[in-house]
Amino acid sequence: MHPSSLDQHTTRIDRRRPIIIITCFFILFIFIIGTAIPAVDAFCDSWRPKHINLHLQQPRTFGAKSSNPKLFIASHYQSLTKKMTLTSTEMKMSDIDNTNCIDSSTLTQIKAGFIGCGTIASSIATALATPPHSTHLAQHAGLSLHSISVTKRSESKSSKLKQSFPDIVTIYDSASDVVHNSNVVFLCVLPQQVEKVLDELKKANVWRKEEHTLVSLVATSNVEELILQSNLPRSRVYKMICLPSIAKREGCALLQRAPSSAPIALPSQSPTDDSRNNNSANDKNEQHTFIDNTDANNSLNEGNDNNNNIDIKAMLMALGGCVECRNDTIMNTMMITSCMMGPLYGVMRANRDWLVKNGVTPEDASYFVGRSYLSMVQDAERNCQDPKRFDDLIEEQTPGGLNEQSLRNLEKQKVFESYDRTMDAILSRLQGTSDGSLPS
Ligand SMILES: NC(=O)c1ccc[n+]([C@@H]2O[C@H](COP(=O)([O-])OP(=O)(O)OC[C@H]3O[C@@H](n4cnc5c(N)ncnc54)[C@H](OP(=O)(O)O)[C@@H]3O)[C@@H](O)[C@H]2O)c1
Repeated sequence: MHPSSLDQHTTRIDRRRPIIIITCFFILFIFIIGTAIPAVDAFCDSWRPKHINLHLQQPRTFGAKSSNPKLFIASHYQSLTKKMTLTSTEMKMSDIDNTNCIDSSTLTQIKAGFIGCGTIASSIATALATPPHSTHLAQHAGLSLHSISVTKRSESKSSKLKQSFPDIVTIYDSASDVVHNSNVVFLCVLPQQVEKVLDELKKANVWRKEEHTLVSLVATSNVEELILQSNLPRSRVYKMICLPSIAKREGCALLQRAPSSAPIALPSQSPTDDSRNNNSANDKNEQHTFIDNTDANNSLNEGNDNNNNIDIKAMLMALGGCVECRNDTIMNTMMITSCMMGPLYGVMRANRDWLVKNGVTPEDASYFVGRSYLSMVQDAERNCQDPKRFDDLIEEQTPGGLNEQSLRNLEKQKVFESYDRTMDAILSRLQGTSDGSLPS
């Protein structure tokens, strides 16, 4: 070969070398991916809980979302693993509407009814009806929403709900019609309206023991009284407390169910006993001894109350979170946390005002305080099921640093004892033993 044509040939090879190297790498990459996916799949198979299997049996649906079903399943496993350690906020952000993956015939249908259609009823109805929430209800509670029935009163609110969810919401003139068309009935009227409403429903004979579940949102409700007023089985009567933020799957609901046995009065307690006439919201259950009286239970639990029984706790877990309280005392104590919203805003306002006093513009101060506190609370919420979470966060503060010193200064000034006294006072107001105010 002529030296100049040899040169040209070498130059051509030199020019092609990067292309050849890239092609080799690409083939190697495809080979690795091809080997890794079945390995990941097999690994995931080995730890995947059985109930998750249920949702993964339909690769067709996954295929619809990804050109490579296996790749989609592998990434779905990763997101499931991640979700186990995610905060509820992060879970919201990772919402994937894959309700289609779930065999709808396995889901229990909720026909929700609301007696009283004010602030809290609208919030719970919105939580149930908001389309992306259906995924959570299906996956975490095995539920699907069939319909929402509401009473007409507070027409501005009931019609707004109807406008928001026209295919789901039906407005009825009477509470009886709402009960007729529901299997879970939320009682959302004011305390002074409860007796009249429940009396009317009892007279109308609308409660069906094998069909209805009653959930009272009224803060002063007592589960034993609700059982007597509705004559429903004990396992189908609940008291619940939540904030309007449930509409966005935020916050955490409190739930109380009746103990499995009916309360039997202690011999020393006659019906005229003062304690029995105590109208406070304090735990009436604790004034009784509970015995496991199967006959007494059966007489209250006529009908097969396991049929169509909706798992209210699972439903609330799917709608943001739920803590179950074993009696009125615990329920009232837990409610005090929701009364700390005002003090929290008070701290934020004081922080904003202090910044403004020191030359920051009100807009910057307000924006900065809002965003900063949000990130602090989000951080605290992560893994908050660990009882030592808040201690750990405090422990993490730099020793001798500014945060540690701020906390120590507040402790020296007995600020947290002040918080304790405030919570005690508000609890005693809730129990009816004081007006809740502290001496100035
Ligand atoms: N708001 C909250 O954040 C919150 C949180 C937890 C618990 N709760 C509890 O939930 C209950 C409702 O609170 P809310 O804030 O939603 O009150 P609300 O906005 O005043 O709603 C009460 C509703 O009940 C209706 N009502 C009254 N009598 C009725 C009857 N006989 N039949 C049908 N509906 C009737 C009212 O209609 P009209 O307007 O026509 O009278 C109104 O729509 C209260 O017991 C409250 O303690 C509230």
